[in-house]
Amino acid sequence: MQESKLLYGGDYNPEQWLDRPDILEQDIQLMQKAHVNTVTLGMFSWSLLEPEEGVYHLDWLADIIHRLYACGIATILATPSAARPAWMAHKYPEVRRVRADRTRELYSRRQNYCYTSPLYRKKVRAIDRELAARFGSDPAVILWHISNEMGGECHCELCQEAFRQWLRHRYGTLEALNKAWNARFWSHDYTSWDQIESPAPQGEDAVQGLTLDWKRFVSSRHIDFFKFERDCVRELAPEAKFTTNLMYRFHDIDYFELGRELDVVSWDCYPTWHKPTETVEQTALDTAMMHDLFYSLKGQPFLLMESTPSCANWQPVSKQKKPGIAMLSALQAVAHGSDSVCYFQWRASRGAEEKFHGAVIGHDGRSDSRTYREAAEVGSALERIARAAGTKRPKQAAIVHDWNNMWAIEGSSGPRNAGMGYWKELALHYNALSRAGIAVDFIHQDSSLEGYGLVVLPMVYLLREDFARSVCDFAAKGGTVVVTYWTGVVDESDLCRLGDTPYGLTKLLGLRRTEIDGMYDGETRRCVLASDPRQNVAQASILCEVAALDPEDPAQPLVLYDEDYFAGMPAVAEHRFGKGRAYYLASRFEAPFYDGLYQAAAHEAGLTSCRPAALPEGVLAVRRGELLFLQNCHATPVLLPSGCELPGYGTAVYRTSGERLL
Ligand code: GLA
Ligand code: ZN
Repeated sequence: MQESKLLYGGDYNPEQWLDRPDILEQDIQLMQKAHVNTVTLGMFSWSLLEPEEGVYHLDWLADIIHRLYACGIATILATPSAARPAWMAHKYPEVRRVRADRTRELYSRRQNYCYTSPLYRKKVRAIDRELAARFGSDPAVILWHISNEMGGECHCELCQEAFRQWLRHRYGTLEALNKAWNARFWSHDYTSWDQIESPAPQGEDAVQGLTLDWKRFVSSRHIDFFKFERDCVRELAPEAKFTTNLMYRFHDIDYFELGRELDVVSWDCYPTWHKPTETVEQTALDTAMMHDLFYSLKGQPFLLMESTPSCANWQPVSKQKKPGIAMLSALQAVAHGSDSVCYFQWRASRGAEEKFHGAVIGHDGRSDSRTYREAAEVGSALERIARAAGTKRPKQAAIVHDWNNMWAIEGSSGPRNAGMGYWKELALHYNALSRAGIAVDFIHQDSSLEGYGLVVLPMVYLLREDFARSVCDFAAKGGTVVVTYWTGVVDESDLCRLGDTPYGLTKLLGLRRTEIDGMYDGETRRCVLASDPRQNVAQASILCEVAALDPEDPAQPLVLYDEDYFAGMPAVAEHRFGKGRAYYLASRFEAPFYDGLYQAAAHEAGLTSCRPAALPEGVLAVRRGELLFLQNCHATPVLLPSGCELPGYGTAVYRTSGERLL
């Protein structure tokens, strides 16, 4: 990886154009003109790389890699395991996935192989070794991209057996497993390992410990598959570096765990810009939250592996990025820690699923299109801020986002089967901090809290005892903690905690939960300021927790419920703990409430905002290394505090010295 430049380019599918040398020639010229310096190749090329079992054709790929390299364009080389050729799927049914209802899929689509199948692994190993032997020490190949968007589940017999093995390893005995799953409930005690099967629509779905373990198992299978492929390449290419492309709000894989295996994190970013129900600022914040999550996986710069230069064809409606948004979204990625801006895709395919997906070069093949022009402008801007590459984001606030917790929340029946809005909860905290110009990391329950001033626990339903302890230590030493409702409810097996809750945090918070009342969609309860009950300050929604103050060391209520049988009880409370403090939020409130809360909490925690005073609303400020990015989310110009005008959707980039780069 080169540190001194930002990678610019994207997915390139020359295998679809081998009969058109004129087009391949034009591609290279237009890439150069657009400042492209990197492409991703080979992702879906298996049927061409191995047209018949054991017969390999790599010359065409070598030829393209080298022609590009001669023109200053490096390659991120993908292994083709995401989409296997038809001959393989027909000859070896075991490579095809079995669905939860136990039907085996026909040959179709992609990203639907059985990750356990020894046969599939043998075939993947063979092709990966061919690629590694040929390109493993090729200077044109700067990074290896394992497979594509790993995810989904396989319920085949091989996977069932692997699941049972995984459970044996985790629990040792059936007695321990039955206890962890509280299997006595409805008389579900397992008396033999063979009785255990993955969750199914026509089968088990009510033993929630099983469902949670199945999710853990599936995640671990994907990670195991990644490691398997990486090691196949590494055997012949010891210097190679590896990534795989991750996804938005992704559920199936614990990305913190996968992140440990990657040399560099990368992700595919497809926001729904210009959705009528969202402002550009809201879409930008939603995207920023993901950038920050991907930065957090390793606490290091990541790569924006895919994004559309114009529109995506799989969203409900294919909206074009309006003029300026391609630039705004590209620079936003860099501001949040990306060392690249890459597109899916360079050239639009003529047929099949993605023929209407946006591309830098469309079917008309023209370079005077708006998309191409704007892409070329992005390429040139990235060269002007190349010094951002490799630089870090400040460490200020942390929000807990833990895959085990998310899986457990989703699996439970009650307290709100109408939807818990887990991501919405995260976004309320993230957006307020981000708008206040505070850098946010996402952490999990093995993360160290060292170096943060503020830690947020939003709906940490599955709260580990050791993590609860480190949160308390963090506050005792002077940190600020924010804990929401639906925290500290169950242990790692999804067994309810006995005794007072939020488990492990009652002393920190100076209160205990006594009840949880669910709210229907749209139902709210008025809340007032404790110091002046005439002032309405928020509306509580989703869940209203009722808490009793600790009689010996009570929290101080800041906001009170003002309706229903719990009127007068704390909706928000603050508690001093050691040298620090904790806030308890008993419910979910509207967005402006969090703006107020975090402005105060960040100040108390001693966090310095990167947001210049008097920056207009709707302009986001983000710091990365010595650079400050100011991004105007309005379509119209705004006046910056410096007196300069920032055009609609424009970005200004300053160095700490005051020098303006963009
Ligand atoms: C994903 C895939 C790509 C392509 C794009 C389309 O990110 O990785 O191969 O299908 O979506 O948006
Ligand atoms: Zn399987």
